[in-house]
Amino acid sequence: MKLPTLKEISALPPDGRSLTVKGWVRTKRETKAAVFLEVNDGSRLGNLQCVFDEAAAAAAASELARAGTGASVAVEGSLVASPAAGQSVELRASSLRVIGEASPESYPLQKKAHSMEFLREIAHLRPRTNTFGAVARVRNRMAFAIHEFFQARGFQYVHTPLITASDCEGAGAMFQVTTLDLERLGKSGRSPDYGKDFFGKPAFLTVSGQLNVETYCEALGRVYTFGPTFRAENSNTSRHLSEFWMIEPEVAFAELADNMELAEDFLKHLVKTALADCAEDLGFFDQRVEKGLVESLEKVLARKFAHMTYTEAVAELEKAPAPFEVKPYWGLDLQSEHEKYLCEKIAGGPLFLTDYPKEIKSFYMKRNADGKTVRAMDLLVPRFGEIVGGSEREDRLEVLRELMAEKKMDESSYGWYLDLRRFGTTPHAGFGLGFERLVMYVTGMANIRDVIPFPRAPKLADF
Ligand code: 4AD
Ligand code: MG
Repeated sequence: MKLPTLKEISALPPDGRSLTVKGWVRTKRETKAAVFLEVNDGSRLGNLQCVFDEAAAAAAASELARAGTGASVAVEGSLVASPAAGQSVELRASSLRVIGEASPESYPLQKKAHSMEFLREIAHLRPRTNTFGAVARVRNRMAFAIHEFFQARGFQYVHTPLITASDCEGAGAMFQVTTLDLERLGKSGRSPDYGKDFFGKPAFLTVSGQLNVETYCEALGRVYTFGPTFRAENSNTSRHLSEFWMIEPEVAFAELADNMELAEDFLKHLVKTALADCAEDLGFFDQRVEKGLVESLEKVLARKFAHMTYTEAVAELEKAPAPFEVKPYWGLDLQSEHEKYLCEKIAGGPLFLTDYPKEIKSFYMKRNADGKTVRAMDLLVPRFGEIVGGSEREDRLEVLRELMAEKKMDESSYGWYLDLRRFGTTPHAGFGLGFERLVMYVTGMANIRDVIPFPRAPKLADF
């Protein structure tokens, strides 16, 4: 492509070369001697300052009048050293063409700072702000880094289905997929005949690709899936989405300790990549969104993550000086206030919790010898708690069948899953990293609805 991006331009020497840049006007400032147009094309956070001296401004007067905030423009000029702080080059502009105007009376993104709530209502325009542009670039870099990490370690990328008949997490929080005429069915008062439904049985959007990816794990050894997942839980929080992306590696012949090591290496690789390759955007988040972000991410790289069993964690919580909203006890599914307390006050950083009570975890986790706990691991981080959930899988056919019976699952729908234990079973382990939680973690953004382009949550499916 001939048109250089602002990112490419920022690396060029100020050698007076002629350039055309295209982008959107962020601000226009006029002084007696010159007109300054700050133009951004989305390739980086920093704008390119385009300076029209008196003569150039006079020649471009009618176009300059139309080049308000939000307008798309083409500016021609020469690249020179910039005397202004924070930028090495600027464009000495010779001509301007407005491609598309943005009326200052109706364009919603004016120069002032807007609230996140307001920006959510204009999710189609918010990528044009500094914050959402930066989030989008970090999100992109992280998605690529995920593949880099696994591909460099011999993992195969497996595409698991989005439509499924099995419930991996067993929480019943699934969106049903049907082509039955619900309106007619409702009027008739009859119950649905799923034999006549599209798939000939009830089908749902997946909550996790794990069960499917396990089949490839038990053939290819090291695999991962990375795709959208869906949860119909009625959680209206800053950490939950109804549609989110998840990365799920699965490793044959691996146990819980290997799984934790992989999760730690993985998260550190992602943090390191963000610090190295998204420095400008992270600097912005550090200044404007979460003070001290960069330093805290650097600290994450510097030390080993802490480990604790669930039972030890509950003992710590029971000793905590300040009361929690929900009183901790052994058997409780820990709330985010507990998770935050444990990593912020006890561990002082990321913390693995292991060996949870079997009642609060899914059916597929390997049962410990105590008969009460399973070989689960959650990775908790400061600010919002759980970022990774995983486990060693139950690889013994009979124990798995018992666990399924305890959870009142219909074994006949999981024959294929049990076959993995019937034919050449192996210890294996894996985890799920919530992609949006990762993006929150490295950007410091406080609400998960602001790290995905178009958030879906209860009563929210706009755009
Ligand atoms: O802990 P979860 O439910 O684990 C699983 O789905 C396993 N099948 C993963 C595996 O072992 N392969 O979800 C994993 C992660 C959580 O730690 C969290 O980061 C994220 O997915 N997550 C959500 N992110 C956003 N919105 C939601 N509603 C989420 N639910 C889970
Ligand atoms: Mg979990």
